[in-house]
Amino acid sequence: MAAPGENLKIDSARLWDSLMEMAKIGPGIAGGNNRQTLTDADGEGRALFRKWCEDAGCEMGLDQMGNMFAMRPGTDPDALPVYMGSHLDTQPTGGKYDGVLGVLSTLEVIRTLNDMGVKTKHPIVATNWTNEEGTRFAPAMLASGVFAGIHTQDWAYSRTDAEGKSFGDELQRIGWRGEEEVGARKMHAFFELHIEQGPILEAEGIDIGVVTHGQGLCWLQVTVTGKDAHTGSTPMPMRKNAGLAMARIMEAVDGIAWSYKPDAVGAVGHIDIYPNSRNVIPGKAVFTVDFRTPDLEVLQKAEAQIREAAQKICDDMGVEVEFEKTGGFDPVAFDEGCVDIVRRSAEALGFSHRDIISGAGHDACWINQVAPTAMIFCPCVDGLSHNEAEEISAEWAAAGTNVLLHAVLEKAEVVA
Ligand code: GLV
Ligand code: MN
Ligand code: MN
Repeated sequence: MAAPGENLKIDSARLWDSLMEMAKIGPGIAGGNNRQTLTDADGEGRALFRKWCEDAGCEMGLDQMGNMFAMRPGTDPDALPVYMGSHLDTQPTGGKYDGVLGVLSTLEVIRTLNDMGVKTKHPIVATNWTNEEGTRFAPAMLASGVFAGIHTQDWAYSRTDAEGKSFGDELQRIGWRGEEEVGARKMHAFFELHIEQGPILEAEGIDIGVVTHGQGLCWLQVTVTGKDAHTGSTPMPMRKNAGLAMARIMEAVDGIAWSYKPDAVGAVGHIDIYPNSRNVIPGKAVFTVDFRTPDLEVLQKAEAQIREAAQKICDDMGVEVEFEKTGGFDPVAFDEGCVDIVRRSAEALGFSHRDIISGAGHDACWINQVAPTAMIFCPCVDGLSHNEAEEISAEWAAAGTNVLLHAVLEKAEVVA
């Protein structure tokens, strides 16, 4: 005879409908989404998620970072809840699934348990973490970082976007600053389902990635200051070209990443150049550096090397350089017990699976510091993400959500 809950399956069509409904909020320009954190669209997406959770009988908690927690009660008032979730915010040219699948799958898990009348000993909580993307307010995973005690709340509130608006003011403005103390909740476990955002699972025809580790990350913001001057009348030896220095530093970022192949990656993703006029030699360049690798020593070396290389480039060119560390975390090893639950759930459901390392940052990387945590990956087409063309199939989404359901049920303990 099957154990209680063993044969449960989520409703794939309902999950897909919810994903498509959420994607109508904050549409992008090419079929994806622009629902950046703490924008009006983010507020609208949150309201829809709250409504769906309340319709599913959950009580919605909201903390002072805007993190949302929809709770389905358990039978034991003393049992710590099992949490699951991800983020609803997107990149400016984001897809419909990065983060969103991880949130709406939690709703589908709760809807399924309701439909089947399944009771669990531990409560189950569906979570939406604020500002995972870090595109508007650096760093990424800001609110889960405050929850895990990595950043102070005051520091998080003081982060500003490109227009100088602060995180704290924008959270208040959209009406999603709660009363609850951040990080006060204790978790029995945390599970995050996410699209892989890389090509491995699809290329190998595998349904489920069992995420054992996450790679470490180093984010720097670099400001190079030279001198604005006329492009026609300033002799070459007299130029202090901040744009050229930036270009040379970009080459250095690329070279350092290649020097640690195959596991290290590096890129400059955001650049601002001033005054950005065709006949002015740029006097100032502000840009970001993003290095990632699963090896802590390599991460530390890459950071030291780019600082040194940039300093030398700028000294040689007679321009100034400053660095601000805007984000960083060490490589992550997820909880072996929870990872094993994910692996066994995939196995029991008959899905092909493999262990995998996450290339992207995730809220789970911070929550892992305060609760036993694991992640589940499902494939995405061509490994493409942070792109409006990001795509997955309804079957992949359903497989990942079924694994989430069974992993959560094992931890939350079905009451017969
Ligand atoms: C978060 O999306 C990241 O940059 O990995
Ligand atoms: Mn994400
Ligand atoms: Mn992302």
